[in-house]
Amino acid sequence: MYRSHDCGQLRISDVNKNVTLSGWVQRVRNLGGMTFVDLRDRYGITQLVFNMETNSELCEKARKLGREFVIQAIGTVTERTSKNKDLPTGDIEITVSQLNILNKSEIPPFTIEDNTDGGEDLLMKYRYLDIRRRPIISGLLMRHKMSLEVRKYLDAQGFMEVETPMLINSSPEGARDYVVPSRLHHGEFYALPQSPQQYKQLLMVAGVDKYYQLVKCFRDEDLRADRQPEFTQIDCEMSFVEQEDILQIFEGLAKHLFKEVKGIDMNYQFPRMVWQDAMEQYGSDKPDIRFGMKIHDVSAETKGHGFKVFDDAEYVCAIAVEGCANYSRKQTDELTEWVKRPQVGAKGLVFIKYNEDGTVKSSVDKFYTPEQLTEIAKKAGAGTGDLVLILCGKKMPILNAMGTLRIEMGNRLGLRDKNIFAPLWVIDFPLFEWDDETQRFYAMHHPFTSPKKEDIALLDTDPGKVRANAYDLVINGTEVGGGSIRIHDSQLQVKMFNLLGFTQERAQSNFGCLINAFKYGAPPHGGLAFGLDRWVAIMYGCDSIKDVIAFPKNNAARDVMMGAPSLISPEQLEELSLEITPEK
Ligand code: AMO
Repeated sequence: MYRSHDCGQLRISDVNKNVTLSGWVQRVRNLGGMTFVDLRDRYGITQLVFNMETNSELCEKARKLGREFVIQAIGTVTERTSKNKDLPTGDIEITVSQLNILNKSEIPPFTIEDNTDGGEDLLMKYRYLDIRRRPIISGLLMRHKMSLEVRKYLDAQGFMEVETPMLINSSPEGARDYVVPSRLHHGEFYALPQSPQQYKQLLMVAGVDKYYQLVKCFRDEDLRADRQPEFTQIDCEMSFVEQEDILQIFEGLAKHLFKEVKGIDMNYQFPRMVWQDAMEQYGSDKPDIRFGMKIHDVSAETKGHGFKVFDDAEYVCAIAVEGCANYSRKQTDELTEWVKRPQVGAKGLVFIKYNEDGTVKSSVDKFYTPEQLTEIAKKAGAGTGDLVLILCGKKMPILNAMGTLRIEMGNRLGLRDKNIFAPLWVIDFPLFEWDDETQRFYAMHHPFTSPKKEDIALLDTDPGKVRANAYDLVINGTEVGGGSIRIHDSQLQVKMFNLLGFTQERAQSNFGCLINAFKYGAPPHGGLAFGLDRWVAIMYGCDSIKDVIAFPKNNAARDVMMGAPSLISPEQLEELSLEITPEK
């Protein structure tokens, strides 16, 4: 028997018990005639104590233990004289009578403690050591708990988990596909799924009725803190449902998870916001509603006063930053530079300080009277003591820029408390997105998303105005999931393909199987998919989804631990009929 208890288990009530523990040596401390060893495993840390006076041989052995040695200690639980309130096992220690070294360890490349000294590259390279650290293992545990609770909830609702293939046909979705060459079929390729979208719709045609799957998805796209090339979806689809049914069932899932994983009761209906309001008031389709600072249209108040920048702009909008009227010149200059960064994309920043005494001071004083500046400030929602920040430009890009500035100010003012969770449904997304460059419409969600019934007539007259039966669940400014009610009427589907500029051949080659299947009685259906990694990261309170993925890729999409991607042998290339051309 390697152990009778784990390293997080023993308490004061266990005093005098004879126990056997196994684990890793976190630290060895020699204090006078005593040697203390912190023994760690997945469950916690227990202090082992060795006494030079009572057992010098054993104590000498303990002194020679290195960091991360794997040991077994047999001894008696004793009450500690100096207790450690920070450890659940901090009231006791083990007076060791027998010590077995199960395995030695080289000196690890970083300290394996909550606050490590390792940089990100090193931690990723030795991820198996990083996972020994509590912040990482606890995140993985929370992920496990969440997956389990997802399965429990969906099972209770009658959903069945069905696996779908990983080697599939390449089809254009939002991102680039990862492709896999076929050996048996010369010059042909599989693609890894960006999501099981078409399969889950086929399962609805197949009568599965309520499907879900915790599934790996693959997307070759630019990486960010909340994006990985391979990530996990909680993918769901249901038949004979309308949007309201989906929102109810999955709001239920969200509440179940918050209750079971975080102990939080959300006994209220999640707020819902139409996409148009999200964009106009928050400058984002994923508003963080933990704080106000809403965006206001101040075009009418700012135009026509001789300030050419505003006069020529399509849209002028403002936010009021509470309590910041006392910003210094240096601070407003810094913010002006900040909004000019390409990631924000504004050309400049105008401010009004609405001082505590009711006076105003602005960077455009010479174009406006104090009364006019006060009016603008009030329209922006400012009170005395607030700083008004104004941007102008084309409507959608400048709303996006203002949304980014709003989040930045929220961060700077500490308004984005990780312990507060603010879920929100964003609904009524537009069906299409117009692209100026290619001069055509793209599906905002995907080509199978259904338009709102009342907007169908607009498909012929003003497609840009058609709203979709599409919805996203947003928590704290992160899109954790999204989906739609699908089109199940083949005539409407053909119309969609036409509007999206698909020729019949292209529609057939990309979606032929689904189009064909729909001829055999497709039920009305819809669904959504949550990003499991993002959801765990939010619940766990970490900034990057990498922290809650056991073996993530780095920002250059590399697995630095295993060394992927890598070259393959000339024999493999030959077998696959592939030739590598020199890098351009
Ligand atoms: P969508 O593309 O919106 O929808 O993806 C669903 C959710 O998956 C998560 N997600 C990601 N997480 C980590 N890294 C990524 N690269 C990444 N990309 C997406 C997000 C997102 O909300 N088939 C549709 C769903 C449907 O219509 O039912 C789909 O995949 O949290």
